[in-house]
Amino acid sequence: MFTKVFSAGVNGIESYILEIEVCISRGSLPYLVIVGLPDQAVKESRDRVKAAMVNSQYRFPYDHVTINLAPAHLKKEGPAFDLPIALGLLLASKQIESSRLTEYLVVGELSLDGQVRPLRGCLSMAIKAREEGYRGIILPAENATEAAVVEGLEVIPVKSLTEAVGFFSGRLSIQATKLNLQEVFNNSAHYEVDFAEVRGQEHAKRALLVAAAGAHNVLMIGPPGSGKTMLAQRLPTILPQLHLQEALETSKIYSVCGLLNQSSTGRGLVSTRPFRSPHHNISEAGLVGGGTFPKPGEISLAHYGVLFLDELPEFNRNVLEALRQPLEAGEITVARASSSITYPARIMLLAAMNPCPCGFYTHPKKRCRCTPHQIQNYLSKVSGPLLDRIDIHIEVPALEHRELVHSPTGETSAQLREKVSRARAIQMERLKEHALTTNAQLSGRLVKKFCTLDAYSEGLLQEAMMEMGLSARGYTRVLKLSRTIADLEGSPDIRPEHVSEAIQYRNLDRTFWK
Ligand SMILES: Nc1ncnc2c1ncn2[C@@H]1O[C@H](COP(=O)(O)OP(=O)(O)O)[C@@H](O)[C@H]1O
Ligand SMILES: [Mg+2]
Ligand SMILES: [Zn+2]
Repeated sequence: MFTKVFSAGVNGIESYILEIEVCISRGSLPYLVIVGLPDQAVKESRDRVKAAMVNSQYRFPYDHVTINLAPAHLKKEGPAFDLPIALGLLLASKQIESSRLTEYLVVGELSLDGQVRPLRGCLSMAIKAREEGYRGIILPAENATEAAVVEGLEVIPVKSLTEAVGFFSGRLSIQATKLNLQEVFNNSAHYEVDFAEVRGQEHAKRALLVAAAGAHNVLMIGPPGSGKTMLAQRLPTILPQLHLQEALETSKIYSVCGLLNQSSTGRGLVSTRPFRSPHHNISEAGLVGGGTFPKPGEISLAHYGVLFLDELPEFNRNVLEALRQPLEAGEITVARASSSITYPARIMLLAAMNPCPCGFYTHPKKRCRCTPHQIQNYLSKVSGPLLDRIDIHIEVPALEHRELVHSPTGETSAQLREKVSRARAIQMERLKEHALTTNAQLSGRLVKKFCTLDAYSEGLLQEAMMEMGLSARGYTRVLKLSRTIADLEGSPDIRPEHVSEAIQYRNLDRTFWK
């Protein structure tokens, strides 16, 4: 007897449909084989399925059993196919009957006692199910919320093999999980922190506003306690509101990492721009993705949001180097034995560091105890090529307690976000024929086209270049920043005051990396 059940697997963050064919024929020596490029976890499926069936009071067929996973060329990974394999076996051995099984995708890992365990990647699977016109998806109850953000699909949560059988045989009715996507999104799209909580630090706040407006990466240098982390956490709050489509894309990444059911991500959807702050001992795979069982890294978890690297010089050099390609491309390709996987990684990079190993080199009151050699050594851990991808460098000074209490709080995140959104709209309009969206993305050729200076501004910049020893790249960077500052003001022309502000964001090159 031959049956077919439809299931889904995940490759990268996208899902593919899998056909599970079960063929049972009579034979004196019982055997069961799984063919179609299964990995170890799929091979172990046989034992889990057997135990789960027996412990759920079904009979495991002792005949010639062949299970074929198609299409054959894709490597099948993970435990998601236990439940569909079990249902296929029950059907093929005529222990159950169902005409509706093929209308659904079925996924789930089975425990030995027949319970259904949660999976990774259910959001992508649900999206695929709808695209391919399935009526619904049967999945682990824990994953129902994340799948239910997909509209026009019956999302049927099951807790055990017995429940799944009950549903298909029509003896058990299971309520489909329903969510109003727009409502979930609206209710959870707000941040816990606000820029208005930061006192003083006008220079740093302004720099972050400029950074957000043009999507420029930023490096903050300052002693411990000066508020670098506090400022960093608030950068996502002034970026333009996340669109629903972007929220779904980021949510798929969280789903594949099994992170979508945590309370921090709202109810099954990442609805605000992420802020990721990995510790400096993170591995290359942890940061950019990959590993034996490939997973997206922190840079992809920060997709459409902010990746914050605190204590930048403490990160392993090769880990930082691995950032260069995704920073350029907005995605990261991870090589595997036979194929490669691409994960999205469109982020703003925000880095922070102390000015010296002890931290107090620039402190007005406390004494720095580092030797010039130690300081040099410390700074040189941050490579030139990475610094080259960071348009804005700012100093965040330590504030005295008195200053801190008496400084005004300034604008709210909502007010700043409004300015950022206006500046972004100008850039999108200007760059749409080049398929770009922000000034940070401008190539050398486009900088020439869009960042022209009047004679006075040009003179100003030349002078600064001589004085600061700015490189040609530094020159281009000042031009891009000037463009963003002009856009923030809604000024079609770049004016001298825009250029002089932009020059300030390159000043640290001279103080620190010379
Ligand atoms: N400008 C500021 N306004 C309000 N609170 C501040 C400010 N700067 C620092 N703080 C307070 O000091 C704490 C330490 O700041 P933090 O951001 O951790 O410093 P850093 O990361 O530079 O070491 C913050 O949690 C905050 O409570
Ligand atoms: Mg900090
Ligand atoms: Zn020091």
